Amino acid sequence: MNTIFITGASSGIGKATAKLFAEKNWTVIATMRNPSKEAELGELTSYKNVALYPLDITNPTQVKETVSTVLKQFNVDVLFNNAGYGMKARFEDMDEAMMKKSIDTNILGMIRVTQAFIPHFKARKSGTILTTTSLAGEMGLILDGVYAADKWAVTGMCEMLYFELAPFNIRVKTLVPGVVKTGFKMEGGGTMPEEYKEYVDKQVQFLMPDLNDIEDAQEAAQDAYFAVTDDDDDRMTYVTGKTAKAVWQKRQEIGDEAFRKYYKGILLNK
Ligand SMILES: NC(=O)c1ccc[n+]([C@@H]2O[C@H](COP(=O)([O-])OP(=O)(O)OC[C@H]3O[C@@H](n4cnc5c(N)ncnc54)[C@H](OP(=O)(O)O)[C@@H]3O)[C@@H](O)[C@H]2O)c1
Repeated sequence: MNTIFITGASSGIGKATAKLFAEKNWTVIATMRNPSKEAELGELTSYKNVALYPLDITNPTQVKETVSTVLKQFNVDVLFNNAGYGMKARFEDMDEAMMKKSIDTNILGMIRVTQAFIPHFKARKSGTILTTTSLAGEMGLILDGVYAADKWAVTGMCEMLYFELAPFNIRVKTLVPGVVKTGFKMEGGGTMPEEYKEYVDKQVQFLMPDLNDIEDAQEAAQDAYFAVTDDDDDRMTYVTGKTAKAVWQKRQEIGDEAFRKYYKGILLNK
């Protein structure tokens, strides 16, 4: 039986992925900040092959302790870095505490957990590291603030690791969602300055052309499963969701400069 270790498994994509892998008879190490929350505990522990562990990825000591405890008991095949924090603000208004939280979670958190797993994967000469990035890590979306930096940074780090870990037969992959119907909050997102309203509306329309057809967490989980079980060891990027796939594909086809002009044209009605 294969084993997957998931961060941020309390809700959304992480939880849907935990359930899907459990249904596929994988052993699932579902980690979350608060495993004692009743509702989450009940739903996930109804699967016999799911084990819950506490993990706040901004806590370096807990990362080391939890990963070490898990690796004493389980031969983990796949690390799924999925936990994330979102913020939205006009660039000049970005709040110091939110910026630090964002970087601490999305970049440093991902680094801490990955660092803790690399010696294990190197020792067994195999393993997969799948990380949830974002379309915000593939194109600049206005008002994403430091979240954009985080997700671009993580995409870049994954590409770097794709090469650095290749000699050890460790596969590095990214799951790239656009908009997924989860409880994911972009902190500060409720108070957009008036001067950006029309551009935000256009961005929303661009990312969600049909509000009745937004990807759900189960679909993202299916793509996470496909990424992990894909025979193509060399593929890194797995975009999930119809709109995100179309946007990503367009950028690939027309190239970076042309894509930037295209999106600026959409925002400015040119
Ligand atoms: N939903 C979207 O539209 C979308 C789009 C692009 C990318 N993403 C990415 O998808 C990933 C999953 O998000 P989601 O959409 O499934 O939203 P979600 O339901 O809010 O899930 C986020 C998860 O991250 C966890 N988390 C946050 N900070 C953490 C920390 N310090 N340590 C451990 N866990 C932490 C949350 O745990 P708690 O329950 O403890 O808060 C929660 O389980 C994130 O990386 C996000 O950036 C989402």
